[in-house]
Amino acid sequence: MGTEKETGSNSYENNIKGSSYIIKECTLESLEGVIEVNEKELPEDYPYFFYKSILDNFPESFLTAVNNDNKIVGYVMWRVERIPSMNNLKIINKGHLVSIAVLNEYRRKGIASKLLEKSMPKILEKKINEYVLEVRVSNYGAIDLYKGLGYKIDSIKKKYYRSFYIFIQACLVFGYCS
Ligand code: COA
Repeated sequence: MGTEKETGSNSYENNIKGSSYIIKECTLESLEGVIEVNEKELPEDYPYFFYKSILDNFPESFLTAVNNDNKIVGYVMWRVERIPSMNNLKIINKGHLVSIAVLNEYRRKGIASKLLEKSMPKILEKKINEYVLEVRVSNYGAIDLYKGLGYKIDSIKKKYYRSFYIFIQACLVFGYCS
């Protein structure tokens, strides 16, 4: 889908469905833009130090999508966690997709797919054995996105998401073995 041109180390210009976006590593300066996208598009907010600690520890897989006006329109961030494997109870390193979001007006252009395509090999370099992520059972768009990339549903957790206003009863845990 579209074309891609390398524009610097770990920075790629993608022409996706007629528009061009740069996919590049997040920087300290772009954190504010990432937080804006998160706060607009997802109910779970994180404190600044949480983003900063992911940026400090896993910068290669913390990617942003930037449009022609230098505006951040999407991001993805991962971290490595030691948790039981999908297949047995052995504790292994998993690449946990902490968060991904694309601004509403930029969706269905392949941006999230590109962010995942570029970030998954980067978190894999951290010697993980599996990828894992959680998604609300009602988030059909995201579920289709993950299934399209080869993720399989592993389990359903009840009462995973909690915030001041809403209680979401269940989420799907997706797994993917590298
Ligand atoms: N409905 C149905 N399928 C969808 C979908 C939707 N709303 N969004 C994505 N998909 C599926 C489609 O198969 C799509 O391919 P197609 O457009 O050729 O049909 C494929 O995923 C790739 O979509 P893509 O364009 O790469 O995704 P996106 O850039 O629109 O971003 C999200 C997808 C989920 C990141 C975006 O909708 C979003 O930010 N949502 C709010 C935050 C969120 O829910 N994050 C995930 C939390 S787990």
